[in-house]
Amino acid sequence: MKSMIVCLLAVVLCIGCLAGCGSKKAASPLDKIKDAGKLTLYTEAGFAPYEFLYNNEVVGVDIEIMKEVAKEIGVELVIEDVTFDTICASVKAGKCDVGAAGITITEERKESIAFSDPYTSTAQYVVVLADNNEIATVEDLAGKDIGVQQGTTSDFMIEDLINDGTLAGATSSGYTAPAVAAASIGKLDAVVTDKLTAETIVANNAEKYQCFKLVKADGSDAAEVEAYGIAVPKNSPDLLETVNKVLERLLADGSIAAWEEKYNGIAKGLEG
Ligand code: ARG
Repeated sequence: MKSMIVCLLAVVLCIGCLAGCGSKKAASPLDKIKDAGKLTLYTEAGFAPYEFLYNNEVVGVDIEIMKEVAKEIGVELVIEDVTFDTICASVKAGKCDVGAAGITITEERKESIAFSDPYTSTAQYVVVLADNNEIATVEDLAGKDIGVQQGTTSDFMIEDLINDGTLAGATSSGYTAPAVAAASIGKLDAVVTDKLTAETIVANNAEKYQCFKLVKADGSDAAEVEAYGIAVPKNSPDLLETVNKVLERLLADGSIAAWEEKYNGIAKGLEG
């Protein structure tokens, strides 16, 4: 009799526990951020004007955007400067809450993470020495040594063009940042990177470099138009909705365009 009561009690307890567990919804990514009191952002601060170091601080357009997102959520923004090619994987693995690093929205990346609505569009540019007159189109990169930032759309594009034979004899090297790659031009023939970043590199060393949009010999674009998005983990609709709401406001009131101009100016003033 005694053991039956114990058994019954155990069953009742178990059912109670299961019911309790079932009724408590798992905390959403946004709830977790609120509970922690901080929004952890991964970025790569070698990409002016979107993120770069200024007076030992990471500043730029993406940082301003994320400050507004943190304010909207009501938490502190924590910024970690990491290598670019780890950002999406870290968002996926939950090592950080979001990634904002001029990240181009691509189908491949969408397989592992979700993206906000686009907030900027860009194109692939090539940086060469000011006196270079050999490279004018993408086909001219055949046989050349090309520098790219590791894990970027520039990296993938050049790799594809080498693999499909368009750039026969070319080699591609991955660097930690576009400006680091540019510092090797001379040894390298060219660096391929996103438009505004290329323009900032040139502006900082106008006597040394020139840059232009990467087009084919027939004048058509060498690469597809790219758009930047904020990377968030998949299955976090509440976080995504908050980011999109803030982006919508910042695009409508002209803040993003104003920050692009402001930080471009600051970055151009830096010693390159
Ligand atoms: N838009 C390019 C990409 O998504 C380059 C981004 C590089 N960003 C950076 N913060 N270094 O691949």
